[in-house]
Amino acid sequence: MLGEPCPEELRDAGERLSVDELRARQLSLLQSTIASAYERVPHYRAALDGVGFAPGDLRELSDLSRLPFTGKADLRDNYPFGMFAVARSEVVRVHASSGTTGRPTVVGYTRRDLDNWADLMARSIRAAGGRPGDVCHVAYGYGLFTGGLGAHYGAERLECTVVPVSGGMTERQVDLIRDFGARIIMVTPSYFLSIVDEMEARGLDPRDTSLQIGIFGAEPWTEHMRAEVEQRTGMHAVDIYGLSEVMGPGVAQECVETKDGLHIWEDHFYPEIIDPVTGEVLPDGSIGELVFSTLTKEAFPVLRYRTRDLTRLLPGTARPGMRRMEKITGRTDDMMIVRGVNVFPTQIEEQILLVEGLAPHYVCVLTRPHRLDELTVQVEAAPGLTDHAAAAAHLTRRIKDRVGVTATVEVLPPHALERSLGKARRIRDNRTL
Ligand code: DLL
Repeated sequence: MLGEPCPEELRDAGERLSVDELRARQLSLLQSTIASAYERVPHYRAALDGVGFAPGDLRELSDLSRLPFTGKADLRDNYPFGMFAVARSEVVRVHASSGTTGRPTVVGYTRRDLDNWADLMARSIRAAGGRPGDVCHVAYGYGLFTGGLGAHYGAERLECTVVPVSGGMTERQVDLIRDFGARIIMVTPSYFLSIVDEMEARGLDPRDTSLQIGIFGAEPWTEHMRAEVEQRTGMHAVDIYGLSEVMGPGVAQECVETKDGLHIWEDHFYPEIIDPVTGEVLPDGSIGELVFSTLTKEAFPVLRYRTRDLTRLLPGTARPGMRRMEKITGRTDDMMIVRGVNVFPTQIEEQILLVEGLAPHYVCVLTRPHRLDELTVQVEAAPGLTDHAAAAAHLTRRIKDRVGVTATVEVLPPHALERSLGKARRIRDNRTL
């Protein structure tokens, strides 16, 4: 039954590795990844030579900390295919980030990379409670974004019946869920809320649909949001994490039986947590920036890739060999500094969900009117809210007391804010110097 421990026979060989077996495997896979990156990718050869690290120098996992980091700028500088470790003809697919600033970052996959990705996504969907034969509605965007196709091939690998809807046309999403009897939906949590709003607007009770599992990721979302979604829909809401540079969705997945953070699929990715300012490696349990090295990628290996995502590593639970990462608090580049106080949109989200009458559709607007940063939170009223001023005052007070900043709150009518079909943009920075 959903929510009970995953039976042993439903776990694959990687999921069953003990910590010791896993560490031995990680060491040998890292050694071969470093050797091949050094040999085939000029960027890595120069980076390793620059610090005097020869490929054979990795004798234990802790030696990894001597390697330089890889950042988004390195990928941009090698646009489009300079970071590939195989001939272009062996690359059977590329994905790319939208590139809102400058050139997009391009990533590539060999046939075997796609095969591993489908296996890991199938493992992720299984850990979320999905089973062969389930109808799986994929509303992540298809295209250069890794969400749609990543989810798609994983669900096929698990032998689900995949409904490849992509994002958008919310009315049709509701029709298809109802007509095809989806048990699983894979979608960003913010867009899922729009789908639920649409159901309610049509007089459908979201608790009465066939949906039982939501696999939500691609953007930060909080425990409070989980509670709201589960209560409104009667579904299990679980978190999935990933990033294009490391693979796409399916790098880490929350298990439905524990819902206590995301197990990192450590047989394919080696995680570290660093101090984002000094770059020093922090012990498990400390909050910092997540860094990944890939262990099995052929076309696009990365060594010590800085994700900019903030979290901490915890011991495994539902999959005891693999460490968990706590739900992501935010990205280093999403941190707002309001008069000296560091604030993440997730902290604002937590407070919004605790004020009755407010809907979890919001945006944080930053301005600098008198050379001082000001934060305005625009948030929608839930249908039926009459006293906007009282709700605004309540939220202002909560943000002051719990987050420690003064925010102006504007409560807007339902549907006033633009909806995203994929990742929600939570910060609008209107500051001018
Ligand atoms: O968002 C891959 C993905 C697709 C993951 C679908 C999950 C589901 P990118 O577009 O490269 O790839 O963006 C990666 O999104 O560094 C995080 O900042 C953020 N992100 C992804 N998953 C989560 C999550 C995909 N579960 C960036 N919680 C990452 C918080 C997430 N942030």
